[in-house]
Amino acid sequence: MTRYVTHDLKLAPRPDEAAAQDFVAALRNHVLNPLAAALKARFEAEVAPSLPAGATGRDVHAALKGDRLFRFYSAARVKAQDMVWASVRTTVARERDALSARFRALALARPAGGTLTLDPALEIPRNVAALDVHRMPGNYHLDGGADDLAAGALYENGLSVFSFGLMGETLDDIGQSIALWLRHRLPDFAPRAILDLGCSVGHQTLPWKRAYRQARVTGLDVAPACLRYAHARAEALGVEAHFLQADATRVPLPDASFDLVFSSMFLHELPRADIRAVFREARRLLRPGGLMLHYELPPNAALSAYDGFYLDWDSHYNSEPFYQGYRDLVPADEVAAAGLVDFLEASVPSLGWYGEEAVIAAARAEGAEASDRLGRLADGVTWYCYGAFRGPNP
Ligand SMILES: C[S@@+](CC[C@H](N)C(=O)[O-])C[C@H]1O[C@@H](n2cnc3c(N)ncnc32)[C@H](O)[C@@H]1O
Repeated sequence: MTRYVTHDLKLAPRPDEAAAQDFVAALRNHVLNPLAAALKARFEAEVAPSLPAGATGRDVHAALKGDRLFRFYSAARVKAQDMVWASVRTTVARERDALSARFRALALARPAGGTLTLDPALEIPRNVAALDVHRMPGNYHLDGGADDLAAGALYENGLSVFSFGLMGETLDDIGQSIALWLRHRLPDFAPRAILDLGCSVGHQTLPWKRAYRQARVTGLDVAPACLRYAHARAEALGVEAHFLQADATRVPLPDASFDLVFSSMFLHELPRADIRAVFREARRLLRPGGLMLHYELPPNAALSAYDGFYLDWDSHYNSEPFYQGYRDLVPADEVAAAGLVDFLEASVPSLGWYGEEAVIAAARAEGAEASDRLGRLADGVTWYCYGAFRGPNP
């Protein structure tokens, strides 16, 4: 049995497949921790002294491009990325029918009472349809029809290997940490309806239902096989959630129907025009006093030139064409332009890494600390989030 996904949709990799997954997880950890630290030390000793004051992440990239250690680091990271998907793909393909059967059984029994609403006529947006984002073969929207779960299984199992334990046993450290933070940051906030945009397999959706038991929680995505997987996964885990296939730039739901519109790791995969459309949609969907909140990569303006360069690596080498453009935006300006008020931002310590007390202490502190741990899948990760409220005006 895989030790990566342990709920009822778990796969049964052969020993060689499980060994490959272990190897790739360890390789990623090696690249993103000791090798990344060596690269930073090399930069500080040999490159930083010759950079002009005010150098940006782009300048750091230009200066390091020919460096042998940077090239080795990048080649290792690209190869490890491809190996992530390769290490789970064969198992997913072999177990495709078994997954479909489990989906049918769970969707019929619905032990947690959740729902799945697909829209076969939905046009998949180009940011999904036109590329294999983060080099994931077939991308999120690949769909074998009817009961197919393969894209969801590839994503959840691949993400487990990719994050080498840093996202928790059920990959929901982001959702759990931020939901706990919010409960302590806004103790009187009692949302009745919560929407998670770009939910994929729903791993960051379920913590909201656990944190706010009274709320109806909806996960929205464009990818049908990910949503089937999300529905079956939620039912298998016994958490009621409602999954909807829709485009977050034009959500087919009434005005003022949510108290919290959340997203995790979503905005950086959108072109700027779509990010702005999502913010306007979030405002429309929120009730007065409701909160839009996003977990995301920290903006370039909050980081040193080196750390900005480090995070923008994906834009150049990991099939993430919108990453840098997203990170160049100023979140406070963007949410204000969408008509939201009272901007807030935070660095939320990972619950799994630092424990509950650290998350609660962060909820009582102001603002987001700049740190080279922000949004980095490495030892001591902290999660950056920001948002704003829908004011009382129409
Ligand atoms: C990186 S995944 C994020 C998954 C999850 N929220 C997490 O934290 O890991 C981005 C998701 O956004 C979805 N997506 C991309 N564009 C979308 C859009 N316009 N509307 C809804 N979902 C979209 C993709 O299908 C994908 O599942």
